[in-house]
Amino acid sequence: MDFRLSEEEELIRNTIRDFAENEVAPRAEEIDRTGEFPADLIKKLADMGMMGIPIPEEYGGGGASYMSYIVTIEELARACASTSVIVESHVSLCAEPILKFGTEEQKKKYLVPLAQGKMLGSFGLTEPNAGSDAGGMQTTAVLDGNEWVLNGSKMFISNSGVADITIVLAVTDKEKKTHGGISAFIVEADNPGYSTSAPLDKLGIRGSHTCEITLEDCRVPKENLLGEVGQGFKIAMWALDGGRIAIAAQALGIAQAAYEEAVRYSLERKQFGQPIGRFEFVQGMLADMATEIQAARLLTYYAAWLKDQGLRYTKEAAMAKLYASEAAMRHTIKNVQIHGGYGFMMEYPAQRHMRDAKITEIYEGTSEIQRIVIANNILKEFSR
Ligand code: CAA
Repeated sequence: MDFRLSEEEELIRNTIRDFAENEVAPRAEEIDRTGEFPADLIKKLADMGMMGIPIPEEYGGGGASYMSYIVTIEELARACASTSVIVESHVSLCAEPILKFGTEEQKKKYLVPLAQGKMLGSFGLTEPNAGSDAGGMQTTAVLDGNEWVLNGSKMFISNSGVADITIVLAVTDKEKKTHGGISAFIVEADNPGYSTSAPLDKLGIRGSHTCEITLEDCRVPKENLLGEVGQGFKIAMWALDGGRIAIAAQALGIAQAAYEEAVRYSLERKQFGQPIGRFEFVQGMLADMATEIQAARLLTYYAAWLKDQGLRYTKEAAMAKLYASEAAMRHTIKNVQIHGGYGFMMEYPAQRHMRDAKITEIYEGTSEIQRIVIANNILKEFSR
């Protein structure tokens, strides 16, 4: 068993850490305060080849391992959670499913510019009345000649409003629903009948744009069906399996930032004539943070390693996301506590990490859904 990253993965980590510390972290407070999409940072990440890091070179990507991508998300999240989820939604939920299920034409037309960072991608699964029950969606797609006609709405879609394309999931057979009745479509943002709301006002990850999408007789060419008719739910679940590892990495990066701040503050802040890090209550919090962050990192890297090996990782991805997101929430709250009254002030980043951490327990499947996925897989394994 070798727990080290490869030389290439280490090099990628150092490169992205350097960029994140010098260019992303100094902007994080302003991105959070203004809620502005950090287009300049995304452009720089594209120039560095980071918008398609795990996509093969023949399709314009970096040809690096999934682990390299996971480390990239972790380092970006340590600096700015908003920036990390923009990259995550683009890679895990748009580029990767096109790589896996797309036709050669779709790969040339969409995957290459996505991987090069010339296009931004998003993923439209959730609806106002279909969140955890993703299969309960009501958006429909009906074939009319050479076009699919899409009607419905999608809610809380990361990167929408700024994305050039969205993978939209829609019902093509009401009787079958999740068992072959849902299909996936690549929809361009300038397609007539496709529109987005203004960005929604959020508690955290405020620089990542999240909008509602409306589809009104949105006619999509037949060749923009992704995969086969009826394969959409499985495509979505496959995309989310990978995405959940990346959200675990995002949670890990947020928790790491909070932990480092907590340690530094415990050494600097004096009460009762000594640094607060000398008090056992604070030491206990720091020890729990360090231990649980390390556990979250091992779960996350293990799931990424399984994906790189071509092994099954549905259960391990859910475990990594469940554990890392809940650890991030616990420890970002502890960081606020260690900072005392200063932790409650907007001028300290502790509150931002706490607000950013919350969404990692919700998107790409809530903690409750991760427990269902884990339990279903355990039961399946034991009944084999
Ligand atoms: N990979 C491939 N196929 C899968 C799968 C997987 N991981 N999980 C399920 N499937 C298949 C099943 O095998 C089944 O196929 P058959 O018809 O051939 O039997 C089919 O999908 C239906 O499976 P289920 O009966 O288990 O489906 P369900 O309706 O009970 O739902 C669920 C299962 C796990 C609860 C699912 O609905 C789910 O994951 N919900 C959470 C949704 C979610 O994560 N949303 C996130 C939105 S995107 C986002 O958040 C992005 C962002 O903002 C950054």
